Amino acid sequence: MSEDSKVAVKFYEADVWGETLHPGETGLTKRIAELTRVERECRVLDVASGKGGSALFLYRKYGCQVIGMDLSSKMVNYAKTKAADEGLQDEVFFLVGEAETFPFLDHSFDVILCECSFSVFTDKGKVAREFWRVLRKGGRIAIADFYLKKQTPFFGSRVLFPCINGAEPEAAYRALLTGNGFHSVHFEDHTDKLKELFFDTIFRFGSINTFLDKLPGLCSGACSNDSYREITRAFRNETLGYCIMAGTK
Ligand SMILES: C[S@@+](CC[C@H](N)C(=O)[O-])C[C@H]1O[C@@H](n2cnc3c(N)ncnc32)[C@H](O)[C@@H]1O
Repeated sequence: MSEDSKVAVKFYEADVWGETLHPGETGLTKRIAELTRVERECRVLDVASGKGGSALFLYRKYGCQVIGMDLSSKMVNYAKTKAADEGLQDEVFFLVGEAETFPFLDHSFDVILCECSFSVFTDKGKVAREFWRVLRKGGRIAIADFYLKKQTPFFGSRVLFPCINGAEPEAAYRALLTGNGFHSVHFEDHTDKLKELFFDTIFRFGSINTFLDKLPGLCSGACSNDSYREITRAFRNETLGYCIMAGTK
């Protein structure tokens, strides 16, 4: 595991997050399922499945086969416990694995989803090649993530969130998919969901600073003030957005 991946894993293991760790909660997961045409017969892989909310949601709604994979054993154990609590331990499987090297055979899945995580991966090209390798021909991929609405870089290195630091412009995401052979690439903006999450966080914690201070010793005080300023500026300037991008093998 790279040092950057270790930092990202620790960041998302903090006890401040809800059951889903992405904007739009299951509403956006449902949109991904529509775009990738998830149905009962599908074999679905949720890459960086976090607490398992999306994988369990997909099984409950569509009855498809779902495997969730995440680099954090804490997340995987949490998801397994949740599946067992719902009596779904033999239906939805969770395992520890790194997105850069999937522990799966070629052509194993019909659908891959990757929510709020692609931006975090240290080698996005390698992950895109893995998506291609483990999807069957005609299989669909959907990435939901932060993206840069303007090409110019705007964050200092002290912004806290790995997913914001790793965000790319739409063109770069497109190039990663088309460059690795995916076609029918479709892009949708869902920045409204990011704004909802931002305001919801303020309501839950009283302020973004209070929230940032609860994150695990990565940054505090002046650093989180800087981070807060950079993020709010990005919102004001409309430079940071959230999107879904889907493609077909
Ligand atoms: C923002 S959370 C999103 C979790 C989940 N997809 C969701 O939307 O609720 C990012 C997740 O990526 C995982 N992660 C980070 N780097 C990873 C890697 N290289 N391979 C697999 N998972 C990784 C973290 O452990 C964390 O669960």
